[in-house]
Amino acid sequence: MSGAYILGIESSCDETAAAVVRAGEQMISNVVFSQIAMHQPYGGVVPELASREHLRAIVPVVRKALADAKQTYASVDAIAVTQGPGLAGALLVGITYAKALAFALEKPLIAVNHLEGHIHAVLLEERQKGNHELKFPALALVVSGGHTHLFLAKETDATWSYENIGHTRDDAAGEAFDKVAKLLGLGYPGGPVIDRLSVHGDAKAVKFAFAQLKHPDRRTVKAKTDNDKLESPPCRKERDRDGAPGSGQSSAGSATRRHTNSERFDFSYSGIKTAVLRYVETHDMKASVEARRKALAGISKPTLEDYLANCDKQTLDLVASFQRAVVDDLVRKTLAAAETHNIATLLVTGGVAANNELRQTFEREGARVGIPVFFPSRPLSTDNAAMIAAAAYPKFLAKDFAGMDFSAEAGMVLR
Ligand code: KG4
Ligand code: ZN
Repeated sequence: MSGAYILGIESSCDETAAAVVRAGEQMISNVVFSQIAMHQPYGGVVPELASREHLRAIVPVVRKALADAKQTYASVDAIAVTQGPGLAGALLVGITYAKALAFALEKPLIAVNHLEGHIHAVLLEERQKGNHELKFPALALVVSGGHTHLFLAKETDATWSYENIGHTRDDAAGEAFDKVAKLLGLGYPGGPVIDRLSVHGDAKAVKFAFAQLKHPDRRTVKAKTDNDKLESPPCRKERDRDGAPGSGQSSAGSATRRHTNSERFDFSYSGIKTAVLRYVETHDMKASVEARRKALAGISKPTLEDYLANCDKQTLDLVASFQRAVVDDLVRKTLAAAETHNIATLLVTGGVAANNELRQTFEREGARVGIPVFFPSRPLSTDNAAMIAAAAYPKFLAKDFAGMDFSAEAGMVLR
């Protein structure tokens, strides 16, 4: 078997991960150690705890990835590691270990942007299935707990470049799932629970009013004068800041106007979280939320039946309506961007890409407008290191290696 074997290391948030990928197209091993259980009681990722757990896990996780791949430290061709965006302290654990390995083993070191990794998770799996012909122009929606971005992705002479044509102005979509789950007493992380509960509620029961995002993003305007740098938020943890309510989502199906090529396709998910909170307050649901929170806290690993036993119809309807609104907004804006840029391929990736309704809606609407949509498998939708090793392969071929002096970039931009 030919092709470079790259050891990927990922520690940007609350997953310590390592993987071996051959030639950017074959995942040989993929080990993910999730810290979710440890952060659960706090309702979100605690940065200091994340760093400490990465320190504990990094060596065994890398050893297991090598052993599963029947590789050794000496046999791999390069070491790739996430440089950012993410939690600085968490990123530094992976970076420091990768540097030490590269130095001791005299192997090339490759620094990878986490968002580029999410995009390459889809490409890796498509190549693994034998699909080597990606049609351009390609548009990638990276939608996770820390990010909601639209990137035009280009490949020129095996080198990838990206143009951001949309991002969230406040909360990421996954962040909204997590905050809504938290305020409904459903625990953390919210996405998987809301995904499973939504099929039991009526998605038309609660109407969420969305406004158009008409004014320019003040952060982008400022960033333009500031060397065009709009930094990514670090990871899921810094999301307890509550953004301005109602600054604007727009309802699905209302996008009839044409967009110009320079137009941005921004998102906003802070308002819908506030709308859910208001609904809970005005419908006297606080007592039942507290009862549910207590009941679920007493169960170590709640099953779907446990959640259902603690949710009344009103809560299930609210959850289903919330999910439908977010999914419709993501799909509508992404397809509007795809139409404007004559997109031939759509890639949907990141933790929220694991969502069943999001996948079904993208598949249905993509087929309707004739744009093929590709997702990673569910294990590669959320954070992993196979995506880092896959994104590193074009850089390996181009000898785009990192020096020993590079450091973590918490707000790293993808371009
Ligand atoms: O990509 P990821 O593992 O980490 C970040 O880079 O943020 O994404 C985690 C996020 C969390 O907000 C989680 O609630 C969300 O992805 N998520 C989901 C689902 N599974 C995970 N959201 C909706 N539906 C899901 N099935
Ligand atoms: Zn991620």
